[in-house]
Amino acid sequence: MRNTMPKIERNAPCWCGSGRKYKTCHMGFDEKIRKFELEGHIVPDRSLIKTPEQIEGIRKSSVINRACLDAVAEAIHAGMTTQEIDDIVYQTTVSMGGIPAPLHYEGYPKSVCTSINEEVCHGIPDDRHILKDGDIINVDCSTILNGYFSDSSRMFCIGDVSPEKRRLVEVTKECVELGLKEVRPWRFLGDMADAVHRHAVENGYTVVREIGGHGIGLEFHEDPFVSFVSKPGTEMLMVPGLCFTIEPMVNMGTDRIYEDEKNGWTIYTADGKPSAQWEIQLVVTETGAEVLTW
Ligand code: MF3
Ligand code: CO
Repeated sequence: MRNTMPKIERNAPCWCGSGRKYKTCHMGFDEKIRKFELEGHIVPDRSLIKTPEQIEGIRKSSVINRACLDAVAEAIHAGMTTQEIDDIVYQTTVSMGGIPAPLHYEGYPKSVCTSINEEVCHGIPDDRHILKDGDIINVDCSTILNGYFSDSSRMFCIGDVSPEKRRLVEVTKECVELGLKEVRPWRFLGDMADAVHRHAVENGYTVVREIGGHGIGLEFHEDPFVSFVSKPGTEMLMVPGLCFTIEPMVNMGTDRIYEDEKNGWTIYTADGKPSAQWEIQLVVTETGAEVLTW
């Protein structure tokens, strides 16, 4: 088995950069992780554990990220194009000194993702998508500030939305809240995933399997891949300093999806039924989680 933690001499400086001796800093922490690794669990390596300085950088990025979605929330209405949402996110981000993370990311052409009704995720804003009464839309915003990444998404109900679609939006939000309650150190990502998945299934919905959350902070998408269909006690061990997103895509019908052949980005439900998603970003703390974006 791979040892994810190269050994450090007790009196040498700690790997975290605190300047303290290893034995009085992260030695006990490393020993605890190693115990889980020897039991066969997936554990994070040191590169995924954020230092206090890095967490502060991510917090500042998150301020811009939330401001973008607050600005969208103020302005969103029937008759608006998704391009106008993109303009709001771009302007808000840049005016606060940030960079929209999606722009030019692996060729993505816009600053935000806007996914309407049966669009599961990665809808591309443009002048032709006009919001209409009864739509549900996910606006997924990601931000870079000083090299630190933040990421969150919210659902918006446009005008008079059917009770069925409204319930999908509400239950999906509850899924994220229930998942968040399971986040605490020395537990597993599968504990969180199972809470998300069970609530969706109990309400008659399905959860997308192929796309999930992700580690984030120094890059847009870091390890681990965060599943929302896993079982308790499986997937990566959560430890203080691990930073990731909870962002389940919950479908009213089938969990099967397909990708837009023309734009190579947008994901749709296979049966054309609606899908909802909320995304938060958090860092695991000594006692639970600090939510950075929502
Ligand atoms: N914001 C999405 C996520 O939650 C990623 C979008 S990638 C993009 O992971 F290029 F489409 F923006
Ligand atoms: Co994300």
